[in-house]
Amino acid sequence: MITTDPTQAAAALAAGSLVALPTETVYGLGALASNRGAVARVYSVKGRPADHPLIVHVAGADQLHQWCGEIPPYAHALAARFWPGPLTLVLPRSTSTGDWVTAGQDTVGIRVPDHRLTLQVLTELGTGVAAPSANRFGRVSPTSAAHVEQELGRFLDPERDLILDGGPARVGVESTIVACVSDHPVLLRPGAISGADITAAAGLRLGTAAADQIRAPGTLAAHYAPSARVVIVAEAGVAEPVTAAPRVGLIAAADVGTPVGVVRLLAPGSVAAYAAGLYGALREADALGLDLVRVIPPTGSSGLAIAIRDRLQRAEVGSRG
Ligand code: TXA
Ligand code: MG
Repeated sequence: MITTDPTQAAAALAAGSLVALPTETVYGLGALASNRGAVARVYSVKGRPADHPLIVHVAGADQLHQWCGEIPPYAHALAARFWPGPLTLVLPRSTSTGDWVTAGQDTVGIRVPDHRLTLQVLTELGTGVAAPSANRFGRVSPTSAAHVEQELGRFLDPERDLILDGGPARVGVESTIVACVSDHPVLLRPGAISGADITAAAGLRLGTAAADQIRAPGTLAAHYAPSARVVIVAEAGVAEPVTAAPRVGLIAAADVGTPVGVVRLLAPGSVAAYAAGLYGALREADALGLDLVRVIPPTGSSGLAIAIRDRLQRAEVGSRG
């Protein structure tokens, strides 16, 4: 089921099968965006509610007109500045974009991922691939082909579906999502590209969305959760009694020590390494059967630091029993 051949992956997608695709952020579970039946399988494999729209992945900004209606000039500026890269634009949809991708909304999310193999797949296809993160609904996004197999292997069809192995995801947290449907860009999900980056490239301040105007369900309070309970703390804490439950893990920067009896899951030396290792560390907590993960989030106002804190808050809420 795992391949490293983008041509085989493109052929499988063209035939209506599902292919998990590597991107620079996280792995996505892809289906040809024009194929209603294939996209329906993405929802059932993920266990995802039908009212959560999918992001269409394309090879370049020149394909925007296939999926989008009116595109504001600042959206073109953002695409030119950040694509290929970890930015999703939510734009007015075109009439030919299927309801099965947009969940019936009048907008479509679209991005050009920055991964050599997936760009080759998209170029060979010449059309869009709808792909949510390749995890079961509400769980931790996969950042390697092995994660995808653990997470979704039993729900995929071994006769036809594929996982394209493109190595570990470089960024490690999902794309920044920006709505481009009014006079000002609106930040819907923080990611590696920060609000300040968006403001600078668009030449406009950020706007705010009316609550009922845009539904971005990825912003659910509970999301990105492992089975272990996640607790955000300011310090690593005291030593655990060696014999007593619960079994505790720790995620914190390299300069934080590990108390005796605690399992160190991640000790990143930079915010980039923190992001790249975070989801793998949460998965490791579950593989080890830990009960609790203490996390000291990164500080600072970089896009990545803000995105990590956002995901950790949702994981904390999502993992509460
Ligand atoms: O980095 C990423 O964005 C990854 C990789 C695979 O590209 N994809 C990803 O997809 O994170 P997903 O489906 O797990 O999260 C996308 C979020 C969802 O919360 C979805 O509701 C929101 O984007 N979204 C998609 N289309 C939208 C639209 N038209 N309007 C508002 N939100 C939208
Ligand atoms: Mg997701």
